[in-house]
Amino acid sequence: MDFFSYRGGRLYAEDVSVEDTASSAGTPLFVYSRQTIRLHISRLQEAFAAAKPIICYSVKANGNLAVLKTCVEAGLGFDIVSGGELYKALAAGGDPKKICYAGVGKTDAEIKQALDAGILMFNVESEAELAAINRIAGEARRRAHVAMRVNPDVDAHTHEYITTAKKQNKFGITLDVAEKIAQRWKEFSNCDLVGVDMHLGSQITETEPYATAIDRLLDFTDKLRKTGHEIEYFDAGGGFGIFYHGGEARTASEFADAIMPKLRGKGLRIILEPGRFIIGNAGILVTRITYVKNQSGKRFIICDAGMNDLVRPSFYGSYHKMWPVKSHVPFTADESESIPPADVVGPICESADFFAKDRPLPVLEQGEYLSIFGAGAYCMSMASNYNARPRAAEVMVEGDHWRIVRRRETYEDLVRGETEAL
Ligand code: LLP
Repeated sequence: MDFFSYRGGRLYAEDVSVEDTASSAGTPLFVYSRQTIRLHISRLQEAFAAAKPIICYSVKANGNLAVLKTCVEAGLGFDIVSGGELYKALAAGGDPKKICYAGVGKTDAEIKQALDAGILMFNVESEAELAAINRIAGEARRRAHVAMRVNPDVDAHTHEYITTAKKQNKFGITLDVAEKIAQRWKEFSNCDLVGVDMHLGSQITETEPYATAIDRLLDFTDKLRKTGHEIEYFDAGGGFGIFYHGGEARTASEFADAIMPKLRGKGLRIILEPGRFIIGNAGILVTRITYVKNQSGKRFIICDAGMNDLVRPSFYGSYHKMWPVKSHVPFTADESESIPPADVVGPICESADFFAKDRPLPVLEQGEYLSIFGAGAYCMSMASNYNARPRAAEVMVEGDHWRIVRRRETYEDLVRGETEAL
């Protein structure tokens, strides 16, 4: 459910005409709907209400300050993976006491920064990292709160690049190693073990992997408690999938029904780290068609957006719905075989620079705007300057208002910080 809809053959974001924003702010352009973000947050809050979870929005999905601020206003905390994300979370007014810090490669400087900020906890991913946190906390005369991120060896049946909890993945600590570390906790006397954590992967469309993994972590939690650790938090991670095609996503309630009963009555505060669920379908990428080229029996729609703006199809083979911003052919027709297929591509010098292959699309003309849906998560946050392309502008819509929340980069931005001198 989102607030993008066609009215009289024109695409609207809430009550704002997408064509108006694109002709005024230029393209490529990300357009976000604040009401959609709020709706997805409230779906999670309502589904998990009985457990009073701490919901930590995963900044990596989309770290625009306007998005983060919307999350802060809704009472969310943040899941971060770098000093840069911590900086952004605090800049948006985030409460450090609701910030969890994951990631396998936290540097000394980042650990110090997070200790100084007084975050809720580090989700520790190795013994070496725990030793570093312990040393830095000792030097700073602070206590560090940590959760062990366990790798439960569970397959979440998602794309291989975004599966994180199988034993061959780099993430988390395997259960046998985690138990041994816990037994030797005296060596980490500046750290309090306050939680257990898992993150199974992303774009997960089944609920069973959560239930299976939680059982494994609960056994581990019991063992920790028996050896004197006061475990307060159970961080179930993120990963709740959304619809890209339509129909594949589970609801917040379905995820809640798999997670909450397992943890009821255990004296554990649930933490969730959703990213995509909140922002994925709250954003679109609007691109202008630069040329249409027909050759070798193919129709190529060449856009002014490229894989530097939205890399998911090139990187993961992801499917994104797309449709002209102005169209009298109903949007639902996009799977129809009566509409001729096209390859929708960008201007970048890579054959992997495509948004769709052989996609049924209505007749499209040079100069028209095309909307790429499901572009709120992992699009702008993964954007680059490849081919010396300034990064796109971002717009936030609310009701009938909109404003630019990140200006389009300029050519000066492309050389900022560079020098020709030796
Ligand atoms: N927590 C941790 C520790 C994570 O690593 C992630 C995502 C999340 C939470 C949020 O996951 P979500 O709820 O958004 O699924 N670039 C990929 C997705 C990478 C996800 C990385 N970790 C894509 O475009 O599909």
